[in-house]
Formats: sequence, structure tokens, C-alpha cells
Amino acid sequence: ERPDALPRDLEGVHVAISAGGTREPLDPVRFLGNRSSGRQGYALARVAAQRGARVTLVAAHTADLATPAGVELERVGTAAELRDAMHFVAKAADVVVMAAAVADFRPVDSAEHKIKKTDRDPDPVALTRNADILAELVAARRPGQVVVGFAAETGDGESDVLEYGRAKLKRKGCDWLVVNAVGDGRAFEVEDNAGWLLSADGAETPLPHGSKARLASAVWDAVAPSARR
Ligand code: CTP
Ligand code: CA
Repeated sequence: ERPDALPRDLEGVHVAISAGGTREPLDPVRFLGNRSSGRQGYALARVAAQRGARVTLVAAHTADLATPAGVELERVGTAAELRDAMHFVAKAADVVVMAAAVADFRPVDSAEHKIKKTDRDPDPVALTRNADILAELVAARRPGQVVVGFAAETGDGESDVLEYGRAKLKRKGCDWLVVNAVGDGRAFEVEDNAGWLLSADGAETPLPHGSKARLASAVWDAVAPSARR
């Protein structure tokens, strides 16, 4: 889409977006990570800037993506770094979007030196929980601030993707939740996305199969009217 064809409905709005996958070090050369490419978060940042927003993008590990025009980029590595950066930028933001894939756990210890192979099996890696950044940002939310979360869900026998999304929206307490169906090559490392946009007021908008840019436009169509400016 050409920028001049887009509405300028985010003029005067400051948006903070996290993107990409965090990496939790085991030693100086190894980490626990995930498959997030950062593309959806970058698309949200690009479209928000095109629609007039001031955008701060906090990026963990991503594919080799160009920084969107007019977007202020800050790079982070671990969930702890992403947490600090998001709390800082959220203080001045009107809309906060947690599109990053944040590691739920990190190794209890990160070795100072590269772990050496020996002639026996290694000890199991002890993990501990990371803070839930989205839940913290919701708890710290200023009046009028809009908080958007993401959920990548796979369906299983017990509950479908939408049911999981509804439960997660309640649990997190955010204003909007973008629910993506994953598995079978969907969402991760691909150009296309599909899912639902769930609102805390109960509205459920299907997000049609399409590019991540299109999904980003659909999200901003819904969220922009509630963004304070
Ligand atoms: N999130 C976060 N901090 C974490 C984990 C997740 O801020 N430590 C955010 C993600 O950026 C996303 C939302 O919470 O916006 C949902 O992430 P998800 O992994 O789907 O939810 P979890 O609560 O971690 O639940 P689970 O992984 O068990 O489904
Ligand atoms: Ca998780």
C-alpha cells in the first residue's frame, strides 16, 4: 500500500511496539530462543508510522529486516532487557503493542565461559520463569493508554484457538489481543498470517488470511479510534 493512500489517523499518537524473539544465554555462545522473525511487529510499526504515529520499536532477535522509515529502533537481547526497554518507552506511549515472542523461561545460570564437552552426559539445564511483561505493562497502564497483546496458539483436542485466545485476553487484562493460528507452517517464518482480533469489550473481528502488512492495517483500523491523541 502507498503511504499516501493510508489514513493519518495515528497523527499525534506515540506507539511503543516490541518485536522478534528473545534469546536467553546458556553461555557466551549459546542461548534458548524461538522462531519469531519479527515481521509482524515490524509491519505494525511500519503501518503505524505511515498513518502518522511516532513509533518506538523495541526489537529482540529478528530476521534481517529493514528498519521501517521514520521508526525509532532499539535493539535488545534477553527478556529482561526487553522488559526494561518496554517499561521505559511505555511511560510516554499512548499505545503499547507486545508483538515480541518473549521466552517464558531462562536458564538459572549463564556460564561465564563456553561450556566444554566432557566424556559424560551434561547436567540438566535448570530453568526459571521470566516476568510476564505484558501483564506488568497492563498493571502499570496509565489512564487512557491502550495495551495490545499477541497470542500464537495451536488448536488441540481440548479447546480451539479462539477459546485459548479468549481465555488469554481475560488472563492478561489487555485491551486487545491479536490471536494467530500457528502450526502447519502458519505464522512463523512465513509472509502470511491469519487470526482474530479480540477486544476486552467482547468484540471479535476475524483477521483475514493475507500479508502481515494487511493484518497490521486491520489491527490499526480497529485500535486507532481508541488511541488518545
Ligand atoms: N508475553 C510477555 N512476557 C512473557 C511472555 C509473553 O509480555 N514473559 C506477551 C507476549 O509478547 C504476547 C502475550 O504475552 O503479547 C502472550 O504471549 P504467549 O506466549 O502467547 O502467552 P503466555 O502467557 O506466555 O502463555 P503460554 O505461552 O503458556 O501460552
Ligand atoms: Ca509464552
